[in-house]
Amino acid sequence: EIRHQAKQIIASMSLEEKVGQMTQYDWGFNPINPETGVSVRDLLRDEIRQGRVGSIFNLSGAEEANELQQLIAEHTEHRIPLLIGRDVIHGYKTVFPIPLAQASAWNPALAYRTAEAASRESMADGVAWVFAPMIDVSRDPRWGRIAESIGEDPLLTSQYSRAWVEGAQIADAPGQATASCPKHYAGYGLAEAGRDYNTVDLSDRELRDVILPPFREAVEAGALSIMASFNEINGIPACANEYLLKTILRDEWGFEGIVASDYNALQELIVHGVAGSEEEACERAVLAGCDMDMHSGFYMRHLPKLVREGRVPESVVDLSVLRILAVKIKLGLLEQPFVKVPSAETAATARASYTALAREAAQQSIVLLRNEAQVLPLRKGGAIAVIGPLADNQKDPLGCWAFDGKPEDVVSLLAGIRQAVGEVAAVHYAEGCGVSVDNMAFDELSEADIEQVMAAVHQSDVVVLALGESLEMSGESRSRTSLDLPGAQRQLVEAVAALGKPIVAVLMSGRPLALPWLEQYASAIVQAWHLGVQSGNAVADVLFGDYNPSGRLPVTVPRSVGQVPIYYYRKKTGRPPGGVYSSYYIDSTTEPLYPFGYGLSYTNFQYSAVTASVGSISADGQLTVSVTVTNTGDAAGTEVVQCYIRDEVASVTQPLKKLIGFSRLQLAPGESGCATFVIGEQQLAILDKDMKRAVEPGRFTIWVGPNASSGDALSIVVE
Ligand code: IFM
Repeated sequence: EIRHQAKQIIASMSLEEKVGQMTQYDWGFNPINPETGVSVRDLLRDEIRQGRVGSIFNLSGAEEANELQQLIAEHTEHRIPLLIGRDVIHGYKTVFPIPLAQASAWNPALAYRTAEAASRESMADGVAWVFAPMIDVSRDPRWGRIAESIGEDPLLTSQYSRAWVEGAQIADAPGQATASCPKHYAGYGLAEAGRDYNTVDLSDRELRDVILPPFREAVEAGALSIMASFNEINGIPACANEYLLKTILRDEWGFEGIVASDYNALQELIVHGVAGSEEEACERAVLAGCDMDMHSGFYMRHLPKLVREGRVPESVVDLSVLRILAVKIKLGLLEQPFVKVPSAETAATARASYTALAREAAQQSIVLLRNEAQVLPLRKGGAIAVIGPLADNQKDPLGCWAFDGKPEDVVSLLAGIRQAVGEVAAVHYAEGCGVSVDNMAFDELSEADIEQVMAAVHQSDVVVLALGESLEMSGESRSRTSLDLPGAQRQLVEAVAALGKPIVAVLMSGRPLALPWLEQYASAIVQAWHLGVQSGNAVADVLFGDYNPSGRLPVTVPRSVGQVPIYYYRKKTGRPPGGVYSSYYIDSTTEPLYPFGYGLSYTNFQYSAVTASVGSISADGQLTVSVTVTNTGDAAGTEVVQCYIRDEVASVTQPLKKLIGFSRLQLAPGESGCATFVIGEQQLAILDKDMKRAVEPGRFTIWVGPNASSGDALSIVVE
């Protein structure tokens, strides 16, 4: 029905109008020509009136959205509304934790809710297309965009991918639709040396085993679009990569939605050196299957001519326009292009519920990394020193890609602590030092700063040190070579430690930091990431035990940059680490600082031995493995029980461990719960030596435990 309607419209469109639908511009990019005084937006308004624009992004609200849709309604023959996009990465005006933090909750259902809330909030401003989720498997913390990712694991990322797509598209409320745009297809997270936009070269096996599963999951979940990445992959930039865009996406997976380029990526085909001119770049991208050109303007400038010259068949253009119109029809834009602005009361009620959700999401995102002598939870009483550049800070907890969030909406850690303790404890604050944006800067602590710090600490029983990165240090184009605390923060830690009070370090960062030295000084370490608007409340909830931390690391935390890339899903090698002439370092262990899946609680969980329903199955059979977990402490808590597998001997080398499932158990003190995992074709199959998915007979080891480095194991046999 939808395709039929779209085809009818296309039949009466001119070639220029069709190409217009394939053209998208950044409304936020608005330089003014100093000679003519004409702004880019003036030019774009003209283009819109002529039906030469299909999509716009970076608008500033409902009024502007309605104004542009009005131009379409009044001036164009076919009145095809604009698809209005936005980078709604972790919330819109209500900023939720960065995706890497949300991944630490190991709770895809929670991500569904934050994605849905973000879509509802942005829809009220006319945004019908969110450029999310970011599902690049990311194994290099130097890469600033790890902050936007779900971390290093294909299964965890796939589960979030499905939930996020469904949430963003508000799958449970038909008629309320927004389009999601999973990105960046594909391999962008494996940029060499963690340097953004860098070359990606990976085998088809790694591509299919590690990188593609989250995208396939997104397609199966009904994603209406996909963004092709900036990077080259095996010599061909993604936007011109037929293997990715056609063979896999369309032919193998049957994807019918829109493929959009990343920003100006068509122009970058020239820079990559795979096109000698704008025309050639345009030809390569469109023939490879890129339906929409983000911002380069190449399609509009060259595609009509290429079609007229017979270099690009018009049927290729028609197919892209069909996909784009089908999405616009599905979203109901043709019937209702305008935004109905909600009443102030409705908006306020919605905002309050999003804010409550932001606190819940932030609580679940926090990972307790260390808690010596049970320094945490803190008692609400006595005197607490709150020190550090991230303490009285309402900007940085917003994290990267939070253009629509406002610092004044953020609860700082200092405010959260003050609110939590009220009058019952004294809170003494000193900033100590700033967060240096420049990696190379080596700031010294000033005498005055040290004096303030000393005064605050001397009066207190315990010190909460708020350390980390500014929001500008992660996100796009924010790669680092150091994974240490920037600026003078280490000196600050050392200066405070010299005063002998117990230290609780709260790390607020967009990436895992390699800080093995911090353990000498801090009794407790809390990985709090950039948690969004409810940051301070959520961290205070954890510090004072009003919320028992339940987050688990979605990435391996290295001891040093030299260990990177380091991830649990690694191969054995012919010489596993263990002495001279093995795969090891002469100056460091190969073990991480904290393993994937790791996180502590204020209670203890005791695992029973893992059991299997049967010891052997046929290749198409199934069994279940189970453990019983008992909360042996005196606080209620949530354990994330993780199940990993290894195919011991296969036709192709296999990872030492592969996550195949996880289960969140909420247990009251003394309570036991059972986690059960089904093991069948999906968990056992590998890409065999002929690149076919197959379950190969033989022995498999299965672990169930609290993280990738521990757990009880058993063996099963596939006959
Ligand atoms: O959506 C983003 C993408 O993730 C990186 N480049 C710019 C796009 C639009 O802002």
